[in-house]
Amino acid sequence: MILLKTKEEIALIRDAALLLGKTLAEVGRHIHPGVTTAFLNQIGEQYIRDHGAIPLCKGYEGFPSAFCISVNDVVVHGIPGERFIKEGDNVSLDCVISLNGYVADSAYTFGVGEVSPEVSRLMKVTKEALYIGLDKCKAGNRVGDISHAIQMHCEKNGYSVVRELCGHGVGLKMHESPNVPNYGTPGTGPLLKEGMVIAVEPMVCMGSKNVKFSKSDGWTCSTKDGKPAAHFEHTVAITANGPDILTTFDFIENK
Ligand code: MF3
Ligand code: CO
Repeated sequence: MILLKTKEEIALIRDAALLLGKTLAEVGRHIHPGVTTAFLNQIGEQYIRDHGAIPLCKGYEGFPSAFCISVNDVVVHGIPGERFIKEGDNVSLDCVISLNGYVADSAYTFGVGEVSPEVSRLMKVTKEALYIGLDKCKAGNRVGDISHAIQMHCEKNGYSVVRELCGHGVGLKMHESPNVPNYGTPGTGPLLKEGMVIAVEPMVCMGSKNVKFSKSDGWTCSTKDGKPAAHFEHTVAITANGPDILTTFDFIENK
């Protein structure tokens, strides 16, 4: 069942989403060569709790930390630890928080210092794919319209999209219906209605779309070919006029 949120509920999700945007920026400004991903997670978890929110990834089906931090060939669900960030890495921060019972989900991929032109283009195209998908978030469209738009933009740029994981409904829980794949056929899938809130999150590989999940931790999702991947995510409310993007990258990008 797809929950429709009221204007009041969307306002509360927006509060959570705004704090999440600030959180990603706060952690992002600590991304430098020599810091560990565990350190970044700790800064972020403290910030979330200091602002009265709860990090929902921590403890979710056994996931151990507040953030997913995914470096280079790790696509998503990287577990923070003693890995050191280095110059040229691409580091995705993915986080879900609950504030006053309302939930927002967002991710951003940061380049560390000077990244290669290839990786820089991958990040740029992945973020473009997110906004191209968001453009389809209008009542009357279907989920497949979002999926197809994302897939086309990535593939026409020579990249591939992960099949195993997808976007999702969000707002009262981390994962609600519907699933929002990053590949698909226009005009298919659930109808988008005013009041739906979803997380759109292209996971894009420079090489092949095939991924593997770590046998030791069960979470870390990496490209099979070892090539880099990128991930951007926004929480968005569907309106009759188009997307109402609730999370924000403004605090990251307008420094
Ligand atoms: N933000 C991720 C998602 O989009 C996080 C889920 S994995 C978790 O679904 F276990 F860390 F929560
Ligand atoms: Co998500």
